[in-house]
Amino acid sequence: MAEVIIVGSREDAGALAADEIARLIRARPDTVLGLATGSTPLPVYRALRPRLAGVDVSRVRGFALDEYVGLDPEHPQSYRSVIAREVVAPLGLDPARVRVPNGAPDGIEHAGADYEAAIEAAGGVDLQILGIGTDGHIGFNEPGSSFASLTRVKTLTRQTREDNARFFDDIDDVPRHCITQGLGTILRARHLLLLAFGAGKADAIARAVEGPVTAMLPGSAVQLHPHATVIVDEAAAGRLRLAGYYRETWQHKPDWQGL
Ligand code: F6R
Repeated sequence: MAEVIIVGSREDAGALAADEIARLIRARPDTVLGLATGSTPLPVYRALRPRLAGVDVSRVRGFALDEYVGLDPEHPQSYRSVIAREVVAPLGLDPARVRVPNGAPDGIEHAGADYEAAIEAAGGVDLQILGIGTDGHIGFNEPGSSFASLTRVKTLTRQTREDNARFFDDIDDVPRHCITQGLGTILRARHLLLLAFGAGKADAIARAVEGPVTAMLPGSAVQLHPHATVIVDEAAAGRLRLAGYYRETWQHKPDWQGL
């Protein structure tokens, strides 16, 4: 099962995740990070900045999970812009070593295969940061996505477009299509770090971690991964049946195990 860690706040979650990522980069300067966007990973990226001060990050690579199709790459909410603003610039990464799927309609039919090839050429993702949608999606793998899926174009659900309308002026401005790493792509990463905050995520988290493994809840794919860590705040942990067990396990975890 995934290791579930219940923390007091988003900041605590960010610190815990950032400690692990900084440790990894110090140990392996050519670490390949899988980068989520959305609001969830922001405390991680913020906590990472001071931890990477003085650390050589010139060889770190990054692969974003997903991108909107047809949104101008210069749009402030394109994931290319978000990754540049929230990750590459503050952490001092080399922009040439951080990729985002190409959501340009021209050539979109090849963009998924190109992205898979680039991840493979980089040696695969060492640590994949994930958020989860209220409908259970990870990346933009909406309910029904195959566990074997690779990077490809998907249609966003109405629920996801409504959730993401907060980043746009109007729901009609939220693109209908995206290009996303598949569940199969995500499962190839060596370590999954799934974060969730707030009561709105409690149902998706409980189903992802403790429910049946089903394509109807794409986040349940984490149960198939040999090294998955789930960090949630109290509100997002609200529906976990084994919350007491997770707390006890974390409290007594041997130091040598790490995350
Ligand atoms: C973002 C992504 C999505 C988000 C999810 C949650 O790259 O792949 O799966 O992680 O939609 O979004 P937030 O964090 O904004 O609640």
